[in-house]
Amino acid sequence: GPTHEPIDPVRYIANRSSGKQGYELAAAAANLGADVTLVSGPVSLADPAGVRVVRVTTAKQMLEAVEAALPADIAIFAAAVADWRVAAPSPSKIKKSASNAPPALTLAENPDILKAIAQMRKGRPALVVGFAAETQDLLAHAKKKLKSKGADWIVANDVSPQTGVMGGDNNAIHLLTSTGVESWPEMSKTDVAIKIVE
Ligand code: C5P
Repeated sequence: GPTHEPIDPVRYIANRSSGKQGYELAAAAANLGADVTLVSGPVSLADPAGVRVVRVTTAKQMLEAVEAALPADIAIFAAAVADWRVAAPSPSKIKKSASNAPPALTLAENPDILKAIAQMRKGRPALVVGFAAETQDLLAHAKKKLKSKGADWIVANDVSPQTGVMGGDNNAIHLLTSTGVESWPEMSKTDVAIKIVE
């Protein structure tokens, strides 16, 4: 799912990810007998059966929880981690006033969790799978991501609003590996998860 990056105690920056694909992956892996830790951002989904669930809010917390969940044979990064956080969240609610201009938010880059784990020198999971959610030039961006992140596979999907993928129940993915690309027909996120895990 998403991460929430606080602006002040009552406001945050987020994105439209529902967490459905990640939860389905955790459930599918557990169904096939894997020992699964699901590190989840703030979503409104029930814990999958037979899975250890660690709930976090921000990208920084997600990185810590992922590191704490290691070692693992396989690591799958399906979260829509916020790329940026507010550099210095206000400790109290930011007030609006007639004389003041809207507040300027200074952003700082979040840690790249997938990259950090894929590039571990010691204890790297044997298979590291990342996702690429794009709205344009999907395969070109996904190919670049395979290299720049150091992942073994990239699961690429088009999240343009008209696809209905973000928040929806279906997904059409391309699986990129070092040897090529497989393009799968649109299917439910449940079936995508089962096929990836198999
Ligand atoms: O760079 P981009 O966000 O497009 O890359 C997507 C992939 O990287 C996904 O697998 C996502 O879970 C992961 N990611 C991450 N930490 C970030 C940003 C993205 O693990 N800060």
